[in-house]
Amino acid sequence: MDEARVTVPALARCKARGEKISMLTAYDYSFARIFDTAGVDVLLVGDSLGNVVQGHDTTLPVTLDEMVYHTRMVARAARRALVVGDMPFGTYHASTDEAVTTAVRLMKEGGAHAVKLEGGERVADRIAAIARMDIPVMGHIGLTPQSVHQLGGFRVQGRGDAGHDRVLRDARAVEAAGAFAVVLECVPKALAREITQTLSIPTIGIGAGVGCDGQVLVMHDLLGLCENPPPRFVRQYVALGEITRRAVEMWADDVRNQKFPGDAESY
Ligand code: KIV
Repeated sequence: MDEARVTVPALARCKARGEKISMLTAYDYSFARIFDTAGVDVLLVGDSLGNVVQGHDTTLPVTLDEMVYHTRMVARAARRALVVGDMPFGTYHASTDEAVTTAVRLMKEGGAHAVKLEGGERVADRIAAIARMDIPVMGHIGLTPQSVHQLGGFRVQGRGDAGHDRVLRDARAVEAAGAFAVVLECVPKALAREITQTLSIPTIGIGAGVGCDGQVLVMHDLLGLCENPPPRFVRQYVALGEITRRAVEMWADDVRNQKFPGDAESY
């Protein structure tokens, strides 16, 4: 996308022109700065930070204060990218008022340009209430990690006729409620393509095939920073975890053998 600053209307233009959108998670200033200069269109401060930054099994323990803290760091780094802050579990569930309050905090204190929340038909009233305040909202349907216990695990969604119809209904509900884009997570590629052709708003896929309007990955998966083998839908572009471990091993060895610091590194 050839934009000095990525905006919500610019993403709509991307869909109209058939230009694909790149979205990557970021949780701190230094990585966000690199991703921004690399030309990533959207920086998602995902509640996946519960897994990859905090070491939890699920995203459920992540708090709104933590999301605000990380969003602020990413927003400070983003000169071009649109910054989307995730609304964590339990911060939009009780009422539309709670949802608007959470979204306002992410925008006002976190510096986000938009917010994201999980769910389709069941959260349509939350999306509508936030969008009415002129806060851009991104939907997230298919596999919604905050519902892991209800779903019975991290499984592909939208399989079979009933599953297909449910995810399609969710997609339509999210668009009708006023979302500017929607994440499709872990749904069959044919369904993702159908949703992408049906909706007028951009779809951003993760484990949803190439037919979406854009793609999102968790930065730790793309960069090889995860402890466990990544899911099938991930392409790891570099083994940064292993490279980092080797570099640190060399440094620790040098310290033990009094090879660091040398004269050139001393005053
Ligand atoms: O929290 C997150 O990182 C996400 C992406 C996986 C879409 O929601």
